[in-house]
Amino acid sequence: MQELSSPNHDFGTSLIGNRVYHLETVTSTNTRLLELVESEDRSGLPEITNGFALWADEQTAGRGRINRTWISPKHMGLWMSFYLQPGLEAHKSFILTFLAAVAVVKSVQQVYQLSPKIKWPNDVLLNRQKICGILTETRVINEQIEHAVVGVGINLNQTRDEFDKNKVAGASSLLIETGRRLAAEEVLRVLLKQLDDYYVFVRTGRFSKIIETWKAYAAFVGDQVVFSSGTEKIMGIYKGIDNKGGLIIEMPDRSLRKFYSGSLSPDG
Ligand code: BTN
Repeated sequence: MQELSSPNHDFGTSLIGNRVYHLETVTSTNTRLLELVESEDRSGLPEITNGFALWADEQTAGRGRINRTWISPKHMGLWMSFYLQPGLEAHKSFILTFLAAVAVVKSVQQVYQLSPKIKWPNDVLLNRQKICGILTETRVINEQIEHAVVGVGINLNQTRDEFDKNKVAGASSLLIETGRRLAAEEVLRVLLKQLDDYYVFVRTGRFSKIIETWKAYAAFVGDQVVFSSGTEKIMGIYKGIDNKGGLIIEMPDRSLRKFYSGSLSPDG
């Protein structure tokens, strides 16, 4: 296990990223952060408090949603997780994912002057290609979030060959989309500030501020989509989201259905 001695970067945020640790290599920043939180033998380990962040140059076992692998080659992306004790009920955990998606969109706008879209629930897209994924993992006790680890992976510097080599379909990087190659730390600085700014709305229960921004960037609203959840696969019109982060689909018989987990893809 690689040692974490002291925070090695100061990004000047008030809560999210108040302490930021960096590793050259790690299995997965989510996995490592959860290990650090849950480890019983704490000798030599930093105290993990609200806002603690961990980022790495590469992940050897990066993880995505639904047990997918997240390929995270060295210096090709921003691979970062942060820890929160948000004091929220379990069913409100969606707001943490929305927070991250909104902060990523705003960061990409600020750094690259491009306006990405958000594909429900948590993919950030440019030109319909995925440039970022978010993995929120919570520990729940008595219906309350004891703690959450939110992992953000932003594809920065991959070439098309890199994705093809790993047989990753539907993905792109900011290098491919803009021709600009940036160090992860430059994007991290902006992202932590955006996360920190938007987190005020989580802390003060003003979720609508995040949800409204999320909606302003939502991809495929009004389109015919295919929605999959477990073994269920349905086609319908994506009408938008409700105030609990649920997806609203209009079925062929015009009835509305809501979903709180699953995956969405455009039909065609
Ligand atoms: C997805 O789209 O399925 C979510 C991908 C999340 C990837 C990030 S990279 C940093 C953090 N560590 C991980 O292992 N996963 C998340």
